[in-house]
Amino acid sequence: MILGLCGSPRAMTTEYVLRAALDMLQEKGFETVFWGVSGKKIGFCTHCDHCLKEAGCIIDDDVQGLYPLLQEAEALVFATPVYTGGVSAQIKAVMDRTRALLAKDRDALRGKPGIAIAVGGDRVGGQELALQQIQTFLTLNGAIPLSGGFFGANLGASLWSKDSMEGIREDEEGMRSMRKTVNRLIEYMEERA
Ligand SMILES: Cc1cc2nc3c(=O)[nH]c(=O)nc-3n(C[C@H](O)[C@H](O)[C@H](O)COP(=O)(O)O)c2cc1C
Repeated sequence: MILGLCGSPRAMTTEYVLRAALDMLQEKGFETVFWGVSGKKIGFCTHCDHCLKEAGCIIDDDVQGLYPLLQEAEALVFATPVYTGGVSAQIKAVMDRTRALLAKDRDALRGKPGIAIAVGGDRVGGQELALQQIQTFLTLNGAIPLSGGFFGANLGASLWSKDSMEGIREDEEGMRSMRKTVNRLIEYMEERA
């Protein structure tokens, strides 16, 4: 199963791109699961260290439902809107909360390929930093960060929504960067199979 994680609190441009990415994966025969922060109750990690002493996170919210999905996933597709030049606070909170999962199972993400999608309202609004934050999350947890490579998808999929659905639908170059990135993930999964 490939897990798509959507970091937007609304079902708009980021979800549109992530769902297009998951559709590509499904067309290649991969099972996908969509998990989004929209409508979810997500608390911040408070560094209480409960997870280091006892297994699991003490915060009783919707992230509890994400832990088994992260464990089960063979690959991860992160998608975030660009907020203040980086990832959304919601997806960052989710990343921080995976500390509890990793404390229980150090290998929960080890060796799993992951890709990143960032959607900004501006053409150059912080997509690269948002992509790097996701790549860093994958790297430091032993996952395998992938990108679509040079000529268009250097760090992953970078999109320009102009703050609207109309804008994202018009961003052909951004969608090309998404397809390049997803194709690299497909290639990696097929090579490894
Ligand atoms: C709090 C906030 C901060 C934002 N900061 C940026 C920014 O720094 N750079 C940028 O390009 N767009 C920024 N945007 C615009 C969103 O990234 C853009 O509208 C995106 O398409 C929203 O994704 P969504 O439609 O999935 O919610 C910001 C939006 C919000 C709400």
